[in-house]
Amino acid sequence: MADDKTTPDPKRPNGLRSDEWFARQDSYGFIYRSWMKNQGHAARMFDGKPVIGICNTWSEFTPCNGHLRALAEHVRRGVYEAGGFPLEFPVTSLSEPLMRPTTMLFRNLASMDVEASIRSQPMDGVVLLAGCDKTTPACLMGAASVDLPTLLVSGGPMLSGRYEGRTLGSGTDVIRFKDAVAAGTMTMEAFMAAEAAMSRSAGSCMTMGTASTMASLYEGLGVALPQNGAIPAVDARRQALAFEAGRRAVQMVHENLRLSQVLSKPAFANAVRLNAALGGSTNAVLHLIALAGRLGVDFGLDDWDRYGREIPCLVNLMPSGKYLMEDFYYAGGVPAVLREIASFLDLDQPTVAGTTIGQGIADAQVFDRNVIFELGKPFKPQGGIAVLRGNLAPGGAVIKPSAATPALMQHRGQAVTFSDADDLKKRIHDPGLQVDANSILVLKNCGPRGYPGMAEIGNLPIPAKLLQLGVTDMVRISDARMSGTAFGTVVLHVAPEAAAGGPLALVETGDWIELDVEARRLHLDVPDDELARRRAALAAFQSPHTRGWEKLYFDHVLQADQGVDLDFLVGGSGDYVPRESH
Ligand code: FES
Repeated sequence: MADDKTTPDPKRPNGLRSDEWFARQDSYGFIYRSWMKNQGHAARMFDGKPVIGICNTWSEFTPCNGHLRALAEHVRRGVYEAGGFPLEFPVTSLSEPLMRPTTMLFRNLASMDVEASIRSQPMDGVVLLAGCDKTTPACLMGAASVDLPTLLVSGGPMLSGRYEGRTLGSGTDVIRFKDAVAAGTMTMEAFMAAEAAMSRSAGSCMTMGTASTMASLYEGLGVALPQNGAIPAVDARRQALAFEAGRRAVQMVHENLRLSQVLSKPAFANAVRLNAALGGSTNAVLHLIALAGRLGVDFGLDDWDRYGREIPCLVNLMPSGKYLMEDFYYAGGVPAVLREIASFLDLDQPTVAGTTIGQGIADAQVFDRNVIFELGKPFKPQGGIAVLRGNLAPGGAVIKPSAATPALMQHRGQAVTFSDADDLKKRIHDPGLQVDANSILVLKNCGPRGYPGMAEIGNLPIPAKLLQLGVTDMVRISDARMSGTAFGTVVLHVAPEAAAGGPLALVETGDWIELDVEARRLHLDVPDDELARRRAALAAFQSPHTRGWEKLYFDHVLQADQGVDLDFLVGGSGDYVPRESH
């Protein structure tokens, strides 16, 4: 890319990183160009055009990203139009619905793949194509560690689900249906019939789940073009956005506009405020902390509370509300929400569009006040993520107030503990389980190391016998995560986790626990000497994984308050690679 040196680098006669491969007039250059020409590229494609890598998380095993090959064609056209040379490449794809034990186990692995693929190959700029939950943060984290001019294009959400005359939201309604079947109010036939009606077009989950949250927050961070978050996957304007992203990638190379110039602390603060206004997924907490760590930005768990606390939830979307992403786009999308909370934002932040955030939202409008509420008359008074601390979570824990039951936000109850995910499955619906509506369900060993990969089961099911009594929510506490499509009074990401010896490991059934969201407090009401006695008797957690990625992950994964990145991946390596093998 262009640099500010006045004397041209002889290795980079066009001022491009890709010159070190394609501008060479020797046998190395011959090899680099010759093999590429077997794909039909004309000689003039190698004469100093910025090479734009189209980093594609397409996979038929990742249905939410199944249309990304087609979308890449629109990026490609945009790159060509702006005078660049587009080259598409595949990276690890993470399928939220299919992968075992959980995609979060592989987010960092995918980010390593993205980083290595970008770093080792001759590209000057990058367009990241992602959609399903973990593919988006994995791509950004990997790209951030290289720090080329880069922007993200999301695959976009599915069309709204429709079933028997009513709207269905991805994930959120699965949870409702599952509870209805357990309570005996929905037949298995009806349950099965709802499947096809829920996922009826290409795209990612169409609630404000993790995929839509991340696609929207990256728009707010400035690393995606306006309306990236909400345009439906099958709307032609998604293709037009991909085209524009291709064009902008070439221009960004000429401008030398790198991720590190966009992703500053104020940009993260803007994203936290946007997340609050959106009622976004708790998973975003982990992903943005990990992304900031790749860039050396001082942004942590308490910033989520600090910046999001005063922002109400403005958006009436599932799982916090009623509408879906399609409605959100028609109502004005992310730019309209950003404009609504503009007084809280740093509007001078640069974006990949080449404008500031403020310039990008100057003309934004709200077209449906049922979907996007006014700041002065919000949908819910509390939007953001509350960060809890106390002797049960010295490293912090999170709760999403907009998805919780107001009456349970201050609650004292007795613990009913489950030692792990298998124990939960075995006993939660046991008619003999000693539990009532005031109990607090506590799940252990489902954190970053314990599961491993931090399972999305923090919204423990309500015991069937309580569902039948009409109980729809209870306080639940764990070191697990929760799907962005889920809801409830659910305390998540307790750090340190039980498998790392956190106090969660010491909780026993019958212990009193106090939750006070307003005071940001999570307290285990057990005397210190008793906790010390339990700790002395606690056996160290043994991982069953002795080889491969799982072992590497277990040995190096950081806790939830540090974004669940691997310790050796924090930071970046830059884009310069000195060696060649030929
Ligand atoms: Fe892929 Fe929800 S399962 S976005």
